[in-house]
Amino acid sequence: MVCLGNICRSPLAEGILQDKVGSKHLVCSAGTGDWHVGEQPDRRSVDVAKRRGIDISDQRAQHFTPHLFDEFDIIYAMDQTNYNDLVELAKTDEDRKKIKLFLEDAFGEPQPVPDPYYGTIADFEAVFDLIDDATDQLITKYTF
Ligand code: 4NP
Repeated sequence: MVCLGNICRSPLAEGILQDKVGSKHLVCSAGTGDWHVGEQPDRRSVDVAKRRGIDISDQRAQHFTPHLFDEFDIIYAMDQTNYNDLVELAKTDEDRKKIKLFLEDAFGEPQPVPDPYYGTIADFEAVFDLIDDATDQLITKYTF
């Protein structure tokens, strides 16, 4: 799960999908930017997830590095800019094929997960709901 800062959207995506797939699959998240490396997710993401019974407080932001293409089968970009940045980092066609726009794979429509960083708690709630619905779709699609 990849966004820009790895503190708002992708930690939620990691926490929500990992909660649904349990120990069957490893889900992780990273950011295309490195400003927040080592930090906990944004307080608002932690709080929204906690209210829905998911603890993401142990996550720490990491910068996306190309070795992650080797470690994961699918690399989900939260928005088109993240997608384009990941394509730039891909070393091979095999890497490139792993990159998918998250909501497009879930719903068949190339929409972004909106960045809530400069928004309100309601924007974080909306992002949680969107990711919750999308991950339900993906689980049905891939029968994870
Ligand atoms: P995220 O949100 O990409 O969903 O983690 C952002 C977090 C930090 C910044 C931008 C977006 N930032 O500019 O520091």
